[in-house]
Amino acid sequence: MIERKHDRSLWIKTTGIREWKDGTAHYNRCESTPYVALNKLFKRYKFDKTDRLVDFGCGRGRVAFYIHNRFEIPVTGVEVHDITYDEALENKASYRHKFKDIEAPVRFEYGLAEHYEIKPTDNKFYFFNPFSIKIFKKVVNNILHSAKKEKRTIDIILYYPMPEYKLYLKKSTPFKLVNRIRVPGANDSKEKFLIYRLK
Ligand SMILES: C[S@@+](CC[C@H](N)C(=O)[O-])C[C@H]1O[C@@H](n2cnc3c(N)ncnc32)[C@H](O)[C@@H]1O
Repeated sequence: MIERKHDRSLWIKTTGIREWKDGTAHYNRCESTPYVALNKLFKRYKFDKTDRLVDFGCGRGRVAFYIHNRFEIPVTGVEVHDITYDEALENKASYRHKFKDIEAPVRFEYGLAEHYEIKPTDNKFYFFNPFSIKIFKKVVNNILHSAKKEKRTIDIILYYPMPEYKLYLKKSTPFKLVNRIRVPGANDSKEKFLIYRLK
């Protein structure tokens, strides 16, 4: 109920779970980050006007719209499920009709996260358990490659972090854990955000 109410305030529809029809070992289902979790995250964590967010496996776009609306920064969502991607575009049309005055762009790219070309200004990367560790490693390597070419501070935000993701970032990358934000009332210990930073 609360999810739909918040959706309505953004003029979008992002509730519901969508499983992959044929099942896939590498690509996870569509499910949006709960608004209560996003509200909690952004009590403690803020974006600057110069930040650029990419949501890898953006689903119907909830996180992208929420952040765009709250911080007015450019956001990009990458999604590979065709129906889900179309829903993100429908949401964009409706959201933009209502919020046309926010200058920063909202973009959605159809395709694989591991094929997304990291832009030199992209510096905040969001993951809600979208895919297997194998794909995550490829995406993080793309981020590191981009950071080598264009030096900048980069944050990776994990919601509902998988142990394999945490282990990989800790043992095999220069990213350092800088913040841990729990979701109030959560029964599941994975319902939290971890923020990793590369300086
Ligand atoms: C758990 S949902 C997260 C949705 C959104 N990020 C949020 O937090 O509200 C994960 C999404 O990742 C998408 N996905 C899975 N593998 C992907 C890949 N390799 N490239 C792009 N999207 C992918 C799924 O189709 C699904 O919509």
